[in-house]
Amino acid sequence: MITQTFKFPTKRIRRHLDDYPYGPITLHTLEDYAAMASIGRVAADTLDFITPHVKPGISTAELDRLVHKFMTDHGAIPATIGYHGYQHASCISVNHVAVHGIPTAAKILKDGDIVNIDVTPRLDGPDHWHGDTSRMFKVGKVPVKASRLIEATEKSLAAGIEAARPGNFLGDIGIACGQVALDYGFAIATDFCGHGIGLTFHDNPEVIHVEPDQMGPILLPGMIFTIEPILNIGKPDVKVLADGWTAVTKDRKLSAQAEHTVGITEDGLQIFTQSKNA
Ligand code: MF3
Ligand code: CO
Ligand code: CO
Repeated sequence: MITQTFKFPTKRIRRHLDDYPYGPITLHTLEDYAAMASIGRVAADTLDFITPHVKPGISTAELDRLVHKFMTDHGAIPATIGYHGYQHASCISVNHVAVHGIPTAAKILKDGDIVNIDVTPRLDGPDHWHGDTSRMFKVGKVPVKASRLIEATEKSLAAGIEAARPGNFLGDIGIACGQVALDYGFAIATDFCGHGIGLTFHDNPEVIHVEPDQMGPILLPGMIFTIEPILNIGKPDVKVLADGWTAVTKDRKLSAQAEHTVGITEDGLQIFTQSKNA
């Protein structure tokens, strides 16, 4: 019997893997994982902090202001500000907005809305480690179908996380995420994907949320990336509005997303952005 063991690298390396021809992937050290755990904690705490504020009557700009203050009060800065010209501390995507909703004073939450808040704090200092996470929130009482969509989205993310193990293929994550959507009868929006993350906000590899054409690399300790499936009630198609950011479903039906930043370990994985309340 051949048993394979997987070990962390002793120093950080950036490697071209034969089975991932799209560029090098960074393999991080245990020390890097400690830094990721601390910024991941800020990211998760930011969403825990904002939860009681997600109520009818609040504007998405006000939520963003609170998110920004929480981050700077906790030794972090929003990595989204200045990122390709984006100017806010969070993305807040309401109802048919799939991702990258821009917080505005005009957008007031109302009973029955479903909302995704996506935050990416990075450590304020010379080492800019990033933690990227998003969750769905229900404003007041939401329709049953909306609740089912959120449930499916959370289960899709959980299934992807379950598949992220050393020795599995990167593609196993997509298969797992996609299967949950299929089981519920929802669609995955394939225009967006998860991504490597660490000192860089968006890095290799691309993490897709459906069965890939190529299974990609074997997952190794030291690989850090996000898993962030977007599920749509209707068709998978989304389009970006004239503001250059807001991505909405083409059929204007509801969309939901959930995201964690995870790192492959020698015997499983670490969820850096897990809530203390989970
Ligand atoms: N946090 C998003 C992600 O999951 C990226 C937002 S970039 C921004 O990758 F500029 F829109 F904020
Ligand atoms: Co992300
Ligand atoms: Co994000």
